[in-house]
Amino acid sequence: MAGFKTLDDIGAVSGKRVLVRVDLNVPVADGKVTDATRIERIAPTIAELSKKGAKIILLAHFGRPKDGPSAEFSLEPIAKATAEVLGRPVGFAADCVGDKAADAVAAMKDGDVLLFENTRFYKAEEKNEPAFTEKLAANGDIYVNDAFSAAHRAHASTEGLARHLPAYAGRTMQAELDALEKGLGNPVRPVVAIVGGAKISSKIDLLMNLVKKVDALVIGGGMANTFLAARGTDVGKSLCEHDLAGTAKQIMIEAAEAGCAIILPADGVVAKEFKAGAASETVAISEVPADGMILDVGAKTVQSVNDWIDRAATLVWNGPLGAFEIEPFDRATVAAAKHAAARTKAGKLVSVAGGGDTVAALNHAGVADDFTYVSTAGGAFLEWMEGKPLPGVEVLKR
Ligand code: 3PG
Ligand code: MG
Repeated sequence: MAGFKTLDDIGAVSGKRVLVRVDLNVPVADGKVTDATRIERIAPTIAELSKKGAKIILLAHFGRPKDGPSAEFSLEPIAKATAEVLGRPVGFAADCVGDKAADAVAAMKDGDVLLFENTRFYKAEEKNEPAFTEKLAANGDIYVNDAFSAAHRAHASTEGLARHLPAYAGRTMQAELDALEKGLGNPVRPVVAIVGGAKISSKIDLLMNLVKKVDALVIGGGMANTFLAARGTDVGKSLCEHDLAGTAKQIMIEAAEAGCAIILPADGVVAKEFKAGAASETVAISEVPADGMILDVGAKTVQSVNDWIDRAATLVWNGPLGAFEIEPFDRATVAAAKHAAARTKAGKLVSVAGGGDTVAALNHAGVADDFTYVSTAGGAFLEWMEGKPLPGVEVLKR
C-alpha cells in the first residue's frame, strides 16, 4: 500500500524478535471475554510472522490502570483467551521490560508467540518516555504496529517504538488504513455519512469535518434532537443539548456552504419512558407530544435513509439511529444496517463503519460481516473521522 511499509517490505524475519503492538483492550465480564473481535483481528499478522519463523512478542495495554501493576488490569487472562481464539500457544511474561521480559524472550523458539504484561503498568508508557521506549526496544529487532484502534495515542508502544526500530504496519493496520482511505480519504462519490449516538457535544469536530467531505450527512440518534430543536422543532422530553443550538446551526450553515445535504428525522418513535418494551407510537417530527421522548427514527425516515444509501457509492457510518440497545427502538438502526449490507453485497456500495456502539449495533443487526469494513476502533475511529492525524499512523509513514 502506498505510503506505509507493510509486512510485504519486512524481508527475512526468521529467528528475529518482532515486537507487535496489538489491541487486546477487549470487554471482559465475570472473567470472560465478551467480544473477541479484536483478538480475532490480530490473527493474520501473527500467523504470517510465525510461519516465517519470527519470535512474536505481543505488546498491549488493558484498561486504564492508574497506580502500577494490579491483578485487575493484568493481561494474563487475556493471554489465555488469545491462545484459545488463535488456536496456538501464547506465552505470558509478567512484565513488559526488565529481567522477566528478557528471560521469557530468551526462552522463545522461532515461531513462538509471547504476550508481555500490560504496558500501562508504567507511567512512562503513556508519557512516551524515550528511556522507557529503549527498554521496550531492547527485546526486539523489528517493530510491527497492528493496533489502529490505539493509534490515536502517542505512547511508547504505539508511537515511540517506531522511532527506535525498523517499523511496519501489520496486516490489520494495513486493512484498516486501506478501508479508511476508501471511506473518506479518496472515496468514490457520492459519499453519504450516517452519524448517530446520544450527543453532539462529543462529535462536534467530527460533524464539522464531515460536512466538508461528504455529499450527504444523515443525523440520527439523540444528537438529531439538538439539530431539530435548533431548527425550532419541539422535541418534548427528548434527550437534547439545548445549549448547543448555536453549534448545531453553525454545522448546518457550513454544510450548506459546502453543498452537503443534511438529513434530519422526518418522523420519530416516541415513548413516555426509556425502557425495553415501553408503549410507543410513531409521529411526524412536528408532532412530538410535550411529555414524549424520541427513542428512534420512524419508518418514513428509514425510507429516506435507505434512499440516500441507494444513491451513495460510499457510506461511512458512526453511531446508531435510535436507542438500539432496547427493543423496539432498535428497528431503524437494524433496517438501515440491513439495507446497507445488502447494497454492499450487491457490489453497489463501499461501506465503512466504526466506533464502539456502531460495531455492537451492526452485530445486533447481524450484518457486521457484510459491510466492506467494520473498524473495532472507538476513539481512533472518531479522531480519524475528525480528520486528525493519528500519531501511531503518522510515524509509520515512509
Ligand atoms: C480502545 O479501547 O479504544 C483502545 O484500546 C484505546 O484505549 P484507551 O482509550 O484507553 O487509550
Ligand atoms: Mg476508548
